[in-house]
Amino acid sequence: MYPLLVTLLLCTTTMASASSLRRGFYSEMCPEAESVVREVMMKAMIREPRSVASVMRFQFHDCFVNGCDASLLLDDTPNMLGEKLSLSNINSLRSFEVIDEVKAEVERVCPGVVSCADIIIMAARDAVALSGGPDWEVKLGRKDSLTASQEDSDNIMPSPRANASYLIDLFARFNLSVKDMVALSGSHSIGQGRCFSVVFRLYNQSGSGRPDPALEPNYRERLDKLCPLGGDGNVTGDLDATPTMFDNQYFKDLVAGRGFLNSDQTLYTFPQTRGLVTLFSKDQAAFFKAFVEGMIKMGDLQSGRPGEIRRNCRMANSRAFSVLLES
Ligand code: HEM
Ligand SMILES: *[C@@H]1O[C@H](CO)[C@@H](O)[C@H](O)[C@H]1NC(C)=O
Ligand SMILES: *[C@@H]1O[C@H](CO)[C@@H](O)[C@H](O)[C@H]1NC(C)=O
Ligand SMILES: *[C@@H]1O[C@H](CO)[C@@H](O)[C@H](O)[C@H]1NC(C)=O
Ligand SMILES: *[C@@H]1O[C@H](CO)[C@@H](O)[C@H](O)[C@H]1NC(C)=O
Repeated sequence: MYPLLVTLLLCTTTMASASSLRRGFYSEMCPEAESVVREVMMKAMIREPRSVASVMRFQFHDCFVNGCDASLLLDDTPNMLGEKLSLSNINSLRSFEVIDEVKAEVERVCPGVVSCADIIIMAARDAVALSGGPDWEVKLGRKDSLTASQEDSDNIMPSPRANASYLIDLFARFNLSVKDMVALSGSHSIGQGRCFSVVFRLYNQSGSGRPDPALEPNYRERLDKLCPLGGDGNVTGDLDATPTMFDNQYFKDLVAGRGFLNSDQTLYTFPQTRGLVTLFSKDQAAFFKAFVEGMIKMGDLQSGRPGEIRRNCRMANSRAFSVLLES
């Protein structure tokens, strides 16, 4: 029995490449897949409006670390430190239970067919569409990774202190343009961030002992009240003035000096990106178009490593088997 299990596992492990991704991938094997994902996302949004923003963020944190392979979703094991506790993710990424709910519902209608990596991509699209943003067709057909790396996440994911020129270089490593980077930062049109991510710019920007001069004074006062020096770093504030609506308010806020994160505000203070921020602040359609292009390009990132269709998004199938055998 044991060798048979091993053979089965090896047989279901295959490579996936960006060229194998296509629209309507599940139309024959699981025609309900996309509507099921949207349905669960809608319920999550009603239960807790912020949860769709939290789920949308998964696409960025998954795709940048060894491609869009749901490595982000793997829980740590005795032999593997995964990505959930990396510097950018610990005490910050949330709403993993929404992905579990989507997966359970998708497994109910088509067991063993839809990857967790594709669920992240569909759910991110749905989060934007349900929040009043653009809607688009996503390419599907990804496989789920067998492993994850905390170290890779730590090495790649940017800090909220990052500036625009650092972010331009980082995104270029993934063949994403300056326009892609600015438009994708517009995802901060929904959701919240922690005081932990902004206190340095309120009280000691770049070690100056002073606040970030780019902060508009009234907005700074509000943030000072929300995030006093030495206060609770887990308190959260809105990333823009309309945190449940996906719109171009984020860019209007940056022009007004009301960007929450330093990484956001520098998109306006740095000359390389200022023109794009101004454009998107005035032309929501241009923002939506560039955003969709960026999301599709980011969704094409692949590791080229072997993959599988995980049964449980939190663990590789081989581990699910050994947990089963141990119990
Ligand atoms: C450009 C570089 C980026 C940086 C430096 C950055 C950084 C951050 C930080 C620091 C937070 C708040 C985390 C916390 O305080 O706990 C955040 C939240 C968020 N980020 Fe980004 N991010 C970037 C790009 C992106 C991209 C490309 C996406 C998605 C396409 C994204 C989606 C989100 C969302 C939706 C939230 C709110 C999540 C929630 O409410 O739970 N971010 N980001
Ligand atoms: C931007 O950030 C990088 C990396 O932290 C730093 O080396 C660089 O000096 C910064 N650029 C400016 C103009 O502040
Ligand atoms: C970026 O594009 C180049 C040239 O097309 C390609 O060789 C490289 O693999 C791409 N990098 C990523 C991370 O997709
Ligand atoms: C501000 O930052 C600098 C450099 O990071 C540090 O040396 C200094 O002690 C900090 N000041 C305060 C008040 O935290
Ligand atoms: C936030 O809460 C977590 C868990 O309760 C705690 O471990 C962490 O230290 C807190 N983080 C900050 C920045 O206060």
